[in-house]
Amino acid sequence: MNKVKSIKNICCIGAGYVGGPTMAVIAQKCPHINVHVVDLNEQRIADWNDADLDKLPIYEPGLAEVVAEARGRNLKFSTDVEKAIDEAELIFISVNTPTKTYGVGKGMAADLKFIELCARQIAKVAKDDKIIVEKSTLPVRTAEALRTILHSTGNGVKFEILSSPEFLAEGTAIQDLHNPDRFLIGGAPTESGEAAVQALVDVYLNWVPRENIVTTRVWSSELSKLTANAFLAQRVSSINAISALCEKTGADVDEIAHAIGKDSRIGAKFLKSSVGFGGSCFQKDILNLVYLCRHFNLPEVADYWEQVIKMNDYQKHRFSKNIIDTLFNTVSGKKIAFLGWAFKKDTNDTRESAAIYVADELLQDRAEIHVYDPKVSEEQIYADLEYLQTNRRPQTVIASETKQSVEYSTLSMEEIRSLVTVHKDPYTAMESAHAIAVLTEWDEFKTYDWGKVYNEMLKPAFVFDGRNIVDKDQLDVIGFEIYNIGKGN
Ligand code: UDX
Ligand code: ADP
Repeated sequence: MNKVKSIKNICCIGAGYVGGPTMAVIAQKCPHINVHVVDLNEQRIADWNDADLDKLPIYEPGLAEVVAEARGRNLKFSTDVEKAIDEAELIFISVNTPTKTYGVGKGMAADLKFIELCARQIAKVAKDDKIIVEKSTLPVRTAEALRTILHSTGNGVKFEILSSPEFLAEGTAIQDLHNPDRFLIGGAPTESGEAAVQALVDVYLNWVPRENIVTTRVWSSELSKLTANAFLAQRVSSINAISALCEKTGADVDEIAHAIGKDSRIGAKFLKSSVGFGGSCFQKDILNLVYLCRHFNLPEVADYWEQVIKMNDYQKHRFSKNIIDTLFNTVSGKKIAFLGWAFKKDTNDTRESAAIYVADELLQDRAEIHVYDPKVSEEQIYADLEYLQTNRRPQTVIASETKQSVEYSTLSMEEIRSLVTVHKDPYTAMESAHAIAVLTEWDEFKTYDWGKVYNEMLKPAFVFDGRNIVDKDQLDVIGFEIYNIGKGN
């Protein structure tokens, strides 16, 4: 495989938040390459193929337009995994790698079972040499695991394994893919490894300038992904730590973020204090970094990064506790309206969303939660809460904050369904509520008729803005009691 291959057929295993948008953009920008995206989930594939572009399984601004352009031309979605593997010279693996919920490394390590299954399937099907690109959201020595499985087939087929981690952020995925800060490719420092790297560079070169394509060794590439996410999450936890101090002392965290962000060494991005970060990557990647450091006997390094997660748990807990404390120490039987459920705006993804944890804490006190989110489905909201009941991580910070251990009771699906109502209309969600909690920064929340909302709420009308997006001055004038993150009252 020492000659640089010209790629004509790409296969992507996994049609999720990473695989779907990434392949759609590759197909859009490389009309001469056939891109075949496969998934075991038949419904997901049916949704990707739906003539009605509103039914795509993922909501991402701009995605529908890209799919409309390439689908049926050189972009195909199917469940025929074997055919796609067989035809491709280059295979992306974009399957999910959740945190393990069982056995060794439970709650910390990445579960690589889906990756392993893919590798076994490729090994079974492949009849000629292939380049395998690891593009899952979580790479930790994944390339090595892939190599071991693929090279143990003994059928003479050669595999070159690359790591090309994805840096797109949900909600801006298409923009990030069209104009990436960088694409990263890790490969082996051998002749055949370099040829494989060049083949993938050539694919990206169809729209990305060469200086924005960084090439490294495999493990550096994998570790870069963890490090980038750890640094980004650390910024959010750092500003959130300051938000707690602001609330005690009367400073304004947004003013501080603005002031320090002007320092070009610090920069203005990722300094927005919030109810806590969510998403499929930050927590999972840091937990893996921590697991890795403990494995290599680096406890100080592990503790350092673990604190980023602890601070995030603390922030979510602080927000929930503030709601309960303010509502006269109990929310039992009280109607709390949730604006937003997604982990950030412009996505329907809810993985690790702060809203789930805040709801869970309020439900422990038997609050009645009424949720409105413009893009998240009712079933997803119930599924998130149900999943958490049996998959809580031990949250040590909660115990230290309240100086007592918190006994979580496990709520049944019936209890969850009786306490949580999902609304299609924000005004009905907020009608007669004791309080509103803003959990996602959807733009539409800024445009509501807040006078009407006030008139229809119980008084005092409380708003807990976990994103600092609603106009505080406007709400003050109307008569709301408003609580922001990191603004001393
Ligand atoms: C992240 C990385 O940004 C991306 O490069 C990587 O490929 C995947 O993980 P994503 O999780 O999709 O992307 O979204 P991101 O914009 O990073 O936001 C993550 C979380 O942090 C969200 O809950 C967001 O609301 C929160 N956040 C972000 C803040 O609370 N404050 C900020 O200033 C920025
Ligand atoms: P991500 O955010 O990493 O893209 P998702 O969960 O959105 O994660 O997508 C991963 C997709 O991979 C899912 O649609 C899942 O059905 C699919 N998948 C997992 N294992 C396999 C496999 N062995 N073959 C094909 N598809 C798979």
